Amino acid sequence: MRMNPWIADFPILAADENGNRLVYLDSAATTQHPTQVLDAVADYYRRDNANPHRGVYELAMRATDAHENARHTVAKFFNAQDDEIVFTQNTTESLNLVAYSYGLHFLHAGDEIVLSVAEHHSNLVPWQRVAAATGAKLVYLYPDEGGHLTEQELDKKITDRTKLVAVAMVSNVLGLRAPVESIVRRAHAVGAVVVLDCAQSAPHVPVDVKALDVDFAACSAHKLYAPMGVGALYAKRELLDKMPPFLSGGDMIAAVHEQTATYAEGPRKFEAGTRNVGGEVGFAAALDYMTAIGWQTLQQHEHALLKQMLDGMRALPWLTVYGEPTADARYGVVSFNVRDVHPHDVATILDAGGVAVRAGHHCAQPLMEYLGIGSCCRASVALYNTPQDIDALLQNLENVRKVMGL
Ligand code: ALA
Repeated sequence: MRMNPWIADFPILAADENGNRLVYLDSAATTQHPTQVLDAVADYYRRDNANPHRGVYELAMRATDAHENARHTVAKFFNAQDDEIVFTQNTTESLNLVAYSYGLHFLHAGDEIVLSVAEHHSNLVPWQRVAAATGAKLVYLYPDEGGHLTEQELDKKITDRTKLVAVAMVSNVLGLRAPVESIVRRAHAVGAVVVLDCAQSAPHVPVDVKALDVDFAACSAHKLYAPMGVGALYAKRELLDKMPPFLSGGDMIAAVHEQTATYAEGPRKFEAGTRNVGGEVGFAAALDYMTAIGWQTLQQHEHALLKQMLDGMRALPWLTVYGEPTADARYGVVSFNVRDVHPHDVATILDAGGVAVRAGHHCAQPLMEYLGIGSCCRASVALYNTPQDIDALLQNLENVRKVMGL
């Protein structure tokens, strides 16, 4: 039996007095937190809490240092510069920031915004609103039968009219990596910017924003073993400089007069109001935790779990997996349906067996329509999952059709 060296770091996953432990397979919705992160957040509130960038007293300066040091850790994790990282609440706010600040001001009637039909609503609805306000047009990329975006499809859809391409690096339903390098090359060749939704990729694959040369990248801390309520937006500094503020108020200004205001420079222009410094400290601690484990170890571990899951599912003739059912091109998630059983029933029966998976449309309704389904189940893996977790999922799946009398 392979031992999991990290599970003991996650108190919520400790076994109960009967030796039973939750089989948590919903990390794509949110991850659990290691003690190292919980302690970092508690220590911040115990020792360093004050409002950053406001006070001149020592405690406030410690809070400012905590805020800026966290930014440095996030920047390093994504190979960005500190002044290219804006703290937000989550991926959704990061993407809305780009839509409202960049999209509304730099897109015009007739321009085309290219999206994949597999986008999460947070990288789709904001662009619908930008299109409605500016007269720009939404153009969709459709995946092939295996769930991949082909070069042919990119060729057809990214044209001289394209001004912005917004795609998830890894789909939260299909789990497949988009051909980001090719998308960026094509978009830049026609003068368009690329917005990368990294909510589902950042936990599983290195996101080097410089190597990828994306213009914007968004992620959420809570999918990276860190608290909810904090996220990041990477943006090239020259873009941040030309974009107007998104939210306005305290701390994002240079000077305010009765009728006018000038704005702070760099990320601070987009960080109005009191920040979630405790969350940012937890975010940095989580990235340090992941960095100490290392990508190679993390990816080998998750790949083995996905392979075990897909091999087991392939033996279930009444189960459909969405997207090419191999572990090689896949990160984090496997979405599936059990024939003749509603996904909510599947998830409820799995829960009765102590296995937590998500069921529903996964905030990706256009993809559900494209696949011809209303909803599906999704099992997702993280560091703390074990081969026994995957066995439990597969055993409980065997049970689903029996429980339903099929
Ligand atoms: N965006 C998260 C998910 O895919 C909540 O489950």
